Amino acid sequence: MLDKIKELIGEVAQFQSANLDEIESFRIKFLGKKGILNDLFAAFKNVPADERKEFGHYINTLKNAAQDKVTALKEAIENSKGFETKYGDLTRPAEPIELGNRHPISLVKNQIVDIFSRIGFTVSEGPEMEDDWHNFTGLNLPEYHPARDMQDTFFLQTNPDMLLRTHTSSVQMRYMESHQPPIRTVSPGRVFRNEDISARSHCIFHQVEGLYIDTNVSFADLKQTLLYFTKEMFGKSKIRLRPSYFPFTEPSAEVDIYWGLETEVDYKITKGTGWLEIMGCGMVDPNVLKNVNIDPTKYSGFAFGMGIERIAMLLYQIPDIRMFYENDVRFLEQFKSVR
Ligand code: PHE
Repeated sequence: MLDKIKELIGEVAQFQSANLDEIESFRIKFLGKKGILNDLFAAFKNVPADERKEFGHYINTLKNAAQDKVTALKEAIENSKGFETKYGDLTRPAEPIELGNRHPISLVKNQIVDIFSRIGFTVSEGPEMEDDWHNFTGLNLPEYHPARDMQDTFFLQTNPDMLLRTHTSSVQMRYMESHQPPIRTVSPGRVFRNEDISARSHCIFHQVEGLYIDTNVSFADLKQTLLYFTKEMFGKSKIRLRPSYFPFTEPSAEVDIYWGLETEVDYKITKGTGWLEIMGCGMVDPNVLKNVNIDPTKYSGFAFGMGIERIAMLLYQIPDIRMFYENDVRFLEQFKSVR
């Protein structure tokens, strides 16, 4: 009997197969309900007491060997299938990677900056937290000047001389302090005004302001520069300048572009006039030049400023300014194709 078991252990050791059916027959033959091992365990009852120890040892060896063999052969088959079935077809195209996209404010800002950079304007930036001088006083807006009410201001509680800039004209002040003419620069940035939030206005928005200072700069240069800009930006070639007032420019004007009255939307956004106001501008006031030590008898210049949100709303027909700050992905994703 023992010899028989030893022989079976040998048979198990020799067995090789890469075929699942064969392995299953092998398993049933040794480990199945009516298999060899169950027979041996049944026969174990009749083994004389003094042989039991040795007999038991060999039966267990046979059982473990058969079980290990089945597992090992099955694993070998799994592994031989290789990467293909484990990970699928490795030559298939990969899952598309979700790319992000720029925020519409950045897109429009970049467009504006790009248009001006083509005619020699550099980009300048400055702090959002500003002092009174750069935001107001230096720009010809002394304390108690009524024009300060044009822009409701957030002051810093800890230091009443500090505020959140209400326009990026403050950057132009800083730029003129550190550069002598010729100056050609645009200043994009975030600005803050203490205004009620509605579909049309927000207490935070963005501006691009421009500054050009040199000898013999005239109002005609200003108009041509703005005409170039509106052509490039909107593809519209008719603008008009309406007299206006800003403390830091003299004369000052409001710039309208002729948008046209072709569609119902045109009627709506231009209130039936065809004209749209897009920015403020003017010739830099001599007092401002004096404040930054630029000689107003030698140099003159122009400045202009526009809101980025307003332009983005026009270009993409966005009905509510608050959408820019909610960061709803469904809104932002719509600008994927814009560069
Ligand atoms: N700073 C003005 C504003 O924020 C815009 C402006 C800039 C007007 C330059 C004239 C010249 O409303």
